Amino acid sequence: MPSNAHKSRTSNKVMTFLVCFLAALAGLLFGLDIGVIAGALPFITKNFNATAHQQEWIVSSMMFGASVGAISSGWMSSHLGRKQSLTAGAILFIIGSLWSAVVPNPEILIVARVVLGLAVGITSYTAPLYLSEIAPENIRGSMISLYQLMITIGIFVAYLSDTAFSESGNWRWMLGIITIPAVLLLLGVIFLPNSPRWLATRGYFRDAQHVLDRLRDTSEQAKRELEEIRESLKIKQSGWQLFQSNSNFRRTVFLGVLLQVMQQFTGMNVIMYYAPKIFEIAGFSNSNEQMWGTVIVGMVNVLATFIAIGLVDRWGRKPTLILGFLVMAFGMVVLGTMLHTGIHSQEEQYFSIAMLLIFILGFAMSAGPLIWVLCSEIQPLKGRDFGITVSTTTNWIANMIVGATFLTMLNTMGNALTFWFYALLNVLFILLTVLLIPETKNVSLEHIERNLMSGKKLRDIGSQD
Ligand code: BGC
Repeated sequence: MPSNAHKSRTSNKVMTFLVCFLAALAGLLFGLDIGVIAGALPFITKNFNATAHQQEWIVSSMMFGASVGAISSGWMSSHLGRKQSLTAGAILFIIGSLWSAVVPNPEILIVARVVLGLAVGITSYTAPLYLSEIAPENIRGSMISLYQLMITIGIFVAYLSDTAFSESGNWRWMLGIITIPAVLLLLGVIFLPNSPRWLATRGYFRDAQHVLDRLRDTSEQAKRELEEIRESLKIKQSGWQLFQSNSNFRRTVFLGVLLQVMQQFTGMNVIMYYAPKIFEIAGFSNSNEQMWGTVIVGMVNVLATFIAIGLVDRWGRKPTLILGFLVMAFGMVVLGTMLHTGIHSQEEQYFSIAMLLIFILGFAMSAGPLIWVLCSEIQPLKGRDFGITVSTTTNWIANMIVGATFLTMLNTMGNALTFWFYALLNVLFILLTVLLIPETKNVSLEHIERNLMSGKKLRDIGSQD
């Protein structure tokens, strides 16, 4: 019998990994859609003779759609289920990708990108939630980091594909090719089991037990987890009611908002959307150099995410975040100073790019994945949908603000001050992390909830006692 038990343990591990991998495919689409527009925009502009205003809308319509998608996905994933929401997201991805490749004018492209944004908003909300509910707690952080890894791979692949298609200038292919991974996502999602926690909230305990049996090493473990879920379901309240009536819950909703504001105001997306422009500021005037420089940015973003995957469940969330903000602040201060004193030689050009890459390293090894990890862990079960809806929507609104203000900041404050400003924010985030952010490594979601509801300080809700 021991060998049978061993076999079933192994197959359960494989099953858990596959499930998480599929849900993380949603992250790939998220990344492809963030990355693709940087390279496509110049060609779209030329093709349609698009005005600056139209260009701004072509970029930001997706973030607008994503905010709306994130808001509605709270309702969808609690009423229809996580799996069903992911399915809807995948279908919208297919429609949006195909449509944006065949549009006759900029106005329709803007509408098609709103549809894509809806897909990104729904999946960026549902995938981490699903992952946090399905992964065993000892690998929960790494599994959610896998989701972030897929986002970065998506951005990188989009940069590469843009660079490849830029020879012919065929932006329709740049946008349309994303239909292929969207179809794969849909096929994958069809095979996902429902989340056991969601099943339990709807009263389907037997089904929840069945899913847990397939995902956990032993049936005792599965039983124990179902018991914990039952326990935490005893307080019957929904997110909005809980928000109105429970100040402990209001604290984690606030924490989720703060975490996402922190992630976006590190300044990461300034680089994601405007990398070629930043290369230009640093003295690389040739557009081929700018395209390839952007590809390197995308690659460092992917590689450094592996550091986070290794550290998140070993070092824990807090020390990794603090180190990350420190590295980002350092990169931005030095870059700002170089821009202040002026970049004259080729060595100085390369040095400033190295600083940009150090910033990317800092983000990818910390705030990139960890903010999503924390946001999915801190909310009590009854208010999880509501809490994560609010934090994910905040992510997209803050994303839109950062993206829409960068060029204006450069023009009004100047290059150096703009980068110093982001450096200063990163220093502030170190302080906020020390004071407010909990360590949630190796703690079950139910335990975090008990700590929160007993009134512990936010930074202590992950404590073991
Ligand atoms: C952020 C995105 C960002 C990406 C970069 C994600 O965690 O939410 O806004 O573009 O990381 O890798």
